[in-house]
Amino acid sequence: MKDLSAYKNAFSALETPFYFYDTELLSRTVEEVRRAASKYGIDVHYAVKANVEERLLHIISAAGLGADAVSGNEVSRAVECGFPKNRIVFAGVGKTDKEIRNALGIEAFNVESLQELEVIDAIAASEGVVADVSLRINPGVDAHTHKFITTGLEANKFGLVPEEFQAAADLLKRLKSVRFTGLHFHVGSQITDVQDVFGQECVRANEIANFFESQGLALEHIDLGGGLGVDYQTPDRNPVPDFELWFSTIANNLPKRPGTRIFTEPGRSIVAQCGSLVTKVLYIKERQTKTFAVVDAGMNNLVRPALYGAYHRIDSLDGRGASARKYDIVGPICESSDVWGTDREIPECSRGTLLAIRSAGAYGSVMSSSYNLRDKAPAYFSEDFNK
Ligand SMILES: Cc1ncc(COP(=O)(O)O)c(C=O)c1O
Repeated sequence: MKDLSAYKNAFSALETPFYFYDTELLSRTVEEVRRAASKYGIDVHYAVKANVEERLLHIISAAGLGADAVSGNEVSRAVECGFPKNRIVFAGVGKTDKEIRNALGIEAFNVESLQELEVIDAIAASEGVVADVSLRINPGVDAHTHKFITTGLEANKFGLVPEEFQAAADLLKRLKSVRFTGLHFHVGSQITDVQDVFGQECVRANEIANFFESQGLALEHIDLGGGLGVDYQTPDRNPVPDFELWFSTIANNLPKRPGTRIFTEPGRSIVAQCGSLVTKVLYIKERQTKTFAVVDAGMNNLVRPALYGAYHRIDSLDGRGASARKYDIVGPICESSDVWGTDREIPECSRGTLLAIRSAGAYGSVMSSSYNLRDKAPAYFSEDFNK
């Protein structure tokens, strides 16, 4: 893992903006998640939605992680990139018939409603197979994170609520072409209150598991979803998230059940820190009260700041020796929300200065668009520069 400014000369020859992925850091992160997971007996499924770059998926699948998909295309992409089909779980409130049919044979459909359970049963029956299903539960746990990335509250559209548990158990016992394998939870994303939020999730998961077991439904796994937060403020200080804290919290709060495995589905914590969006300063606009640095990356390349007011650290790759100045760093898109950061103190920059928008590996490229008919940012990988 090298400091980004070490790539400055190589980057200067490339058209901006582009995503840069530090594949050495990704490998280190995957190694660490594996180490911590095996210590606590946890089975990790990478949440593909966070980043679908094939090169990154190959690194993650080669390390032996399973995959968590939320669309039929994600299931296909995961299979193409080396994840065994029987290590893929599939969630999502709106699975289509075609997506269900094509995914038959996966490790588990994380079923989000009673009606979906009946639909999967009918489709599996029509194909002459039995589908493994796990129930996605809405546990009523507040993730203490941004409301757009909170998923485990009754107000959110995900999963089954307690009033539906008895009907779900009855249905599972009656239907012939689905086989119950476990329970699935996911309370939210960018969770930094790790012990409190995941501790509560485990307590609820245990109560709900007791209910389904009391109905004679054995649990092969309990899937606790993803959500571990990353350090967006100081990514160089914490390039690898604290998987040990997350997994030890699970081990301390979820009583072990013989024959029941524990799954997790990290997305952001695997890929966020290895990615940067590299952009160039196009123009400096001096105003009486502030100075704008207009860059060539826009909200179409990385929408998190415009969508959630998310913070990304911005580093200058050219700034050695320059004195610091405050800028509002803004993109080229015709929207006032196309702002990377206000009052950011960085070394004085000018037309052509390269900036790196950090921690952009998760929910960056995957959420990009061609709004304003702009090009999508291509991807480059550190291992290609380090040869
Ligand atoms: C069902 C499910 N699992 C896992 C994840 C991954 O979450 P994160 O990237 O916060 O780890 C998500 C993200 O929203 C999700 O919806």
